[in-house]
Amino acid sequence: MDAPAAPLPEDLAAIERETLAAIDAAADEAALEAVRVAALGKRGAVSERMKTLGAMSADERRVMGPALNGLKARVADAVGARREALVAEALQRRLAEERVDVTLETEPAPIVSGRIHPISQVWDELTAIFADLGFAIAEGPDIETDDLNFTKLNFPEGHPARDMHDTFFLPERADGTRRLLRTHTSPVQVRTMLAQRPPIRIIAPGRTYRCDSDQTHTPMFHQVEGLVVDETSHVGHLKWVLTEFCRAFFEVEDAAMRFRPSYFPFTEPSYEVDIRCRRSSAGIELGAGDDWLEILGSGMVHPNVLANCGLDPDVHQGFAWGMGIDRLAMLKYGMPDLRDLFEADVRWLTHYGFAPLDRPSLAGGLSR
Ligand code: DAH
Repeated sequence: MDAPAAPLPEDLAAIERETLAAIDAAADEAALEAVRVAALGKRGAVSERMKTLGAMSADERRVMGPALNGLKARVADAVGARREALVAEALQRRLAEERVDVTLETEPAPIVSGRIHPISQVWDELTAIFADLGFAIAEGPDIETDDLNFTKLNFPEGHPARDMHDTFFLPERADGTRRLLRTHTSPVQVRTMLAQRPPIRIIAPGRTYRCDSDQTHTPMFHQVEGLVVDETSHVGHLKWVLTEFCRAFFEVEDAAMRFRPSYFPFTEPSYEVDIRCRRSSAGIELGAGDDWLEILGSGMVHPNVLANCGLDPDVHQGFAWGMGIDRLAMLKYGMPDLRDLFEADVRWLTHYGFAPLDRPSLAGGLSR
């Protein structure tokens, strides 16, 4: 059995006190390593003492050997214990810092947070409805000739109906002609009849322009034109198509419609079409009530227009209509001021816009 260790000489006891205190105070592994080297490294305080053993007498060595070995072992143990504690602390700190709350919601992707403008939405809705009825999409340019915007549509030169259109004209060209920003989508009727033979069944959504601006008019607005030409279409078909469209578009069972006689140069007879509605302080409710709201113009294509487009009015006949897309959007989605549609205000769009992944379709629902 080992004899109880003799008390350490004072100088070794001081080394032990200071070294253990320094080990305790080491704030990280690098600091701890420095303390270890200072005590147990080749030139460390304890190692230097070990080197003195060789020069001692046998008796001295018998006392100092175990004393120094004991000191060395206690310092090494203390370093080991402190290192373990530091590693554990560092791990806890990292775990706390790098904590991820997997229950947090992720940032929505742009495809989810972006919004479809109500005009684009209504454009897609009416395209879905008319595509289902067998209509194709036709297009024409925003900058149009006077001939296609007016003359071929049976507005003769100097006709007063031309003045009602508040036309934006482009500067006159060398040959005396001037182009204009189309005032309606009706020139696409002419372009279509000039380009293809009947039977024709098209709609033409697009931008239109008139020099006018107030709560219900903007200088640029959107229309959708419709045209059917064959050898047998009549007013009954016109009424059915438009009634069917309104039922589908406004998503109501019964869309009572009123066809009022009217005048357009390019149709004969012509009708302005109203839909039944109820007006209240809450807004306009469609498909019920005792009021009427005008939503479109229509009629049988005028024989002069057919002839202007190279068709024989004794063989071909058809019907056409035009309506404002912006107005349809305001009515369906309860937006009071037309100008808001063109303000590009993100807050407005967030409120009135549509989720990009909900494409309108007759099967899936138009507006949901
Ligand atoms: N183009 C007319 C307008 O802008 C709307 C219109 C009325 C179009 C009757 C038509 C129609 O095709 O038949 O006021």
